[in-house]
Amino acid sequence: MTVLVFGRNGQLANALIRHPWSPNADGSPRKVVALGSAEADIRDAVAVTNAITTHQPTLVVNAAAYTAVDKAESEPEAAYAVNETGSGAIAHAAAAAGIPLIHVSTDYVFDGTGTSPYREDQPTAPLGVYGASKLAGEKAVAAAGGRTVSLRTSWVFSADGNNFVKTMLRLGADRPALRVVADQVGRPTAAADIAAAIAFLEPFVADGRASGVLHFAGAEAISWHGFAEAIFDEAAALGRPRPSVAPITTADYPTPAKRPAYSVLACDRFLALPGASLPDWRVALRQVVTDLVG
Ligand SMILES: NC(=O)c1ccc[n+]([C@@H]2O[C@H](COP(=O)([O-])OP(=O)(O)OC[C@H]3O[C@@H](n4cnc5c(N)ncnc54)[C@H](OP(=O)(O)O)[C@@H]3O)[C@@H](O)[C@H]2O)c1
Repeated sequence: MTVLVFGRNGQLANALIRHPWSPNADGSPRKVVALGSAEADIRDAVAVTNAITTHQPTLVVNAAAYTAVDKAESEPEAAYAVNETGSGAIAHAAAAAGIPLIHVSTDYVFDGTGTSPYREDQPTAPLGVYGASKLAGEKAVAAAGGRTVSLRTSWVFSADGNNFVKTMLRLGADRPALRVVADQVGRPTAAADIAAAIAFLEPFVADGRASGVLHFAGAEAISWHGFAEAIFDEAAALGRPRPSVAPITTADYPTPAKRPAYSVLACDRFLALPGASLPDWRVALRQVVTDLVG
């Protein structure tokens, strides 16, 4: 009963490795095998197929992605090679082997001009190469025709890898005052909570009660500025200096890739599954900040 994770060193892959998976029916612990690009480069369809043949998983999770949002603007081929071609290779291999796949996607498939949470069936319109390549990945996964869910999530944070929480804590350690964008709103989501959602989803994907695109994110929407305030509140409670955080606009902080302004995912489809709930990201944030500076 192996869970095979493509991606090894990223935020989500680490959370999947650490997740307390329910034991197998015979009481033995669930085995999680996570493969980084050195072991199985997802751009290589043969390597992907070999990994599935070798490990004979009962669930495949694609946690591998090209996630450098700004860099993708100048190297679109690299982004598409991983996010479209690689995701498609995993989906084809999983479908051929009859194994359910949970693929992970992003809120950046939307342009963020909306004013109410985005449902799965709303039109996509990515603003940049990263979002476009992830959308192409969703389509490649759907085209493979297996038992799949493309789980769109947003604003991922954990004590691993690169993310906004770690950036804020690093900058806040040296500076008494920061400026953070206040006109982009989204739902922060802890990698640990995505891992739990994937474990929760497994039986629903396996028997077809969940399929296609599904949104999952932290319960509360907030701006980057508000998120920064929450991060520094937690750090200050642990005795760290608390910088002031001034709200600025997106125009004050230009980046190579445009970001959606209103990037709030509606998670009603996920919530309709029996037993589903959305996590309070503030609970996970306290743990992550404690892990990083406590
Ligand atoms: N981060 C966010 O805020 C965010 C928001 C919404 C959705 N998502 C989605 O959530 C998922 C997980 O994101 P994350 O934050 O955990 O990403 P991450 O920390 O950037 O990790 C991505 C991992 O993908 C692996 N990878 C890249 N190219 C690969 C290749 N060709 N073959 C095999 N592995 C490869 C890398 O492994 P190596 O180090 O071994 O190369 C890297 O560790 C992704 O699908 C992402 O698009 C993320």
